[in-house]
Amino acid sequence: MTAPDILFQEVAPRDGLQIEPVWVETDDKVRMIDALSHMGFTRIEVSSFVSPKAIPALSDADQVFARIERVPGVTYVALVPNLRGAERALAAGADELNLVMSASETHNRANMNMSGEASFAAFQQIAQAVGGTGASVNGTVATAFGCPFEGAVDEDRVVDLVKRYRAFGATGITLADTTGMANPLQVERLVGKILWHVPHEALTLHFHDTRGLGLANVLAAYRAGARRFDGSLGGLGGCPFAPGASGNICSEDAVAMAEEMGMATGIDLPALIDLARTLPGLLGHDVPGQVMKAGRVSDLHPVPDRLRIV
Ligand code: COA
Ligand code: ZN
Repeated sequence: MTAPDILFQEVAPRDGLQIEPVWVETDDKVRMIDALSHMGFTRIEVSSFVSPKAIPALSDADQVFARIERVPGVTYVALVPNLRGAERALAAGADELNLVMSASETHNRANMNMSGEASFAAFQQIAQAVGGTGASVNGTVATAFGCPFEGAVDEDRVVDLVKRYRAFGATGITLADTTGMANPLQVERLVGKILWHVPHEALTLHFHDTRGLGLANVLAAYRAGARRFDGSLGGLGGCPFAPGASGNICSEDAVAMAEEMGMATGIDLPALIDLARTLPGLLGHDVPGQVMKAGRVSDLHPVPDRLRIV
């Protein structure tokens, strides 16, 4: 198989399920992750080791990690907010710890109940705890393109946070547009700035489609040199501590776009669409994905009988 031209990483089990009001059984979570593991994804965000009071939907993170199949070549990621979460994630055998703090001080307090500096102090302890375990660290800057409380976010602050993450050993960096406030020109500019400090293999863009610009922002980031993107099955997702948050870019829509444009993704798109089609039954509601409803461009319809030449 040829190397992918663009990498899509799957975050539905974490970002997607964290905002769902219904409890999804541990076995169903495991089934979803195991199915995703066999579709060509190289990175799957499995769950988060946060306070169960903050995110009740993911309170079974330990059991999920214990039961999933570990497919070689797939990095299984856990989101962690503090040292306690990091210790739980390491005990559960997470391959990568995804640390999250917000560029906006107000969103960091709403989401993590602490200042940005307190988050960084915890991250430094986490980096020490991770040292020598073989796990890697990814640093996410949330609200990197705008904050639902503070509005515009200073790009120099985002660059500064990225440099601080890298200084204490975060190999991966994610820029997250937590409530879909980014526009393509802004994305192109900020990605260009960040790629002076982070190699493109280490940078992930995490877009939400809150205002319909998710895939436009993917293309803008791609044109600026980014190659790794988070997506969520069916377009699920959102941060419960950010007003108006809604779904991530939809994985199968994004993969379908890339494939239509001739970019190899390494993902089994028909299998991904089949899995997305199980979501309404699992969650009890419609989900935002488009391709799962419309089918792929290549899925042609039968010609009406009246047009057949006899
Ligand atoms: N795992 C499990 N439980 C944890 C925990 C962790 N990583 N960290 C804290 N807790 C528990 C504490 O034991 C305490 O439980 P208790 O009330 O039964 O004694 C409770 O959570 C509160 O702990 P405290 O240290 O006072 O934290 P807090 O109330 O200031 O909350 C966070 C801080 C970071 C733990 C919480 O805000 C959080 O989990 N945020 C994550 C939000 C999130 O996932 N957002 C979406 C992804 S970006
Ligand atoms: Zn998100």
